[in-house]
Amino acid sequence: MHNILNKFNKLGYSIIPTPIHKLENLSKFFGANIYCKRDDMTGFAFGGNKTRKLDYLVAEAVNQKADTLVCVGANQSNFCRIASAFGAACNLDVHLVLGGKKPAVSTGNLMLDYLFGAKITHIDSEDWDVWENEAIRVSEELRKKGKKVYWMPIGGSTPTGALGYVECMSEIMDYSRRNKIHFESIFHPTGSAGTQAGLIVGKKLFGYEGEITGIAVTKNEEQLKSEVLTLSRETAHMLEIDFQEDKIIVDDNFIGKCYGAHTRKAEDAIKLFARKEGILLDYVYSGKAASGMLDHIRKKHFPKNSNVLFLHTGGNIQLFN
Ligand SMILES: Cc1ncc(COP(=O)(O)O)c(C=O)c1O
Repeated sequence: MHNILNKFNKLGYSIIPTPIHKLENLSKFFGANIYCKRDDMTGFAFGGNKTRKLDYLVAEAVNQKADTLVCVGANQSNFCRIASAFGAACNLDVHLVLGGKKPAVSTGNLMLDYLFGAKITHIDSEDWDVWENEAIRVSEELRKKGKKVYWMPIGGSTPTGALGYVECMSEIMDYSRRNKIHFESIFHPTGSAGTQAGLIVGKKLFGYEGEITGIAVTKNEEQLKSEVLTLSRETAHMLEIDFQEDKIIVDDNFIGKCYGAHTRKAEDAIKLFARKEGILLDYVYSGKAASGMLDHIRKKHFPKNSNVLFLHTGGNIQLFN
């Protein structure tokens, strides 16, 4: 881990550094050098990108002597599943505010939230602001009852959460240096801006010279670029580093109708990764990001013999819904 991150508390539940390996069959199929960073293998509570963020976030909660975590997300939120597991492991109560109708049967992440012992408020709305306002209201109610609440916005995308992806960037640079491989571009799904902001600040800190391409899965390019920029600036400020980043790349051509909607391209990418590499993606995040990356490769957006890195952020529990 880079020294600059040492001054921040971290719990260490994520199994990192995660491996990077070449996707040999997909590389042959597409005539490109495609690598994968396996953040689906961060381990804790089935892993994914959120364990990295929560290692820093829940450490901050413990440091502030909180006894309760309040989190917000969709019914099938990966973040809320992993936050519930952190709460269980750290003896903290967990209250989740989950958006969308309460389903008759709890499956996937929601089933696991209950298994980890989280208390859940369902809110029948698709509006993220409505969810967050409800989470703020729940937090206030708990505080009035004497609870010490640590509340986290959607996806844990605060400067503290983004540190997890500053650290991920340092792992990518270590790999590049050790193996003398430069990645022309890193592709990943971007939803609440935390992963991309962390990578971008890491890029600046560790001197990565390629592109970081966020494939949008929630909002349009303009909205996400602005959120990523704001969070990058806040994260850099917290790290006390100078930050000027004008090139933030978000491609919003792969969302489909809306967040969570299945797309034909994601389905194709999911099948290709499964059948050529034995790797499981999902329809909401990693499948859409992979479909975006493969589209860029097909359209030959990179010089010949370039290396491209797919950051697999997990989420494949969704396949069981
Ligand atoms: C599996 C998975 N991948 C990617 C993302 C997007 O990460 P971020 O919200 O940091 O942009 C999420 C967010 O919920 C996720 O669950």
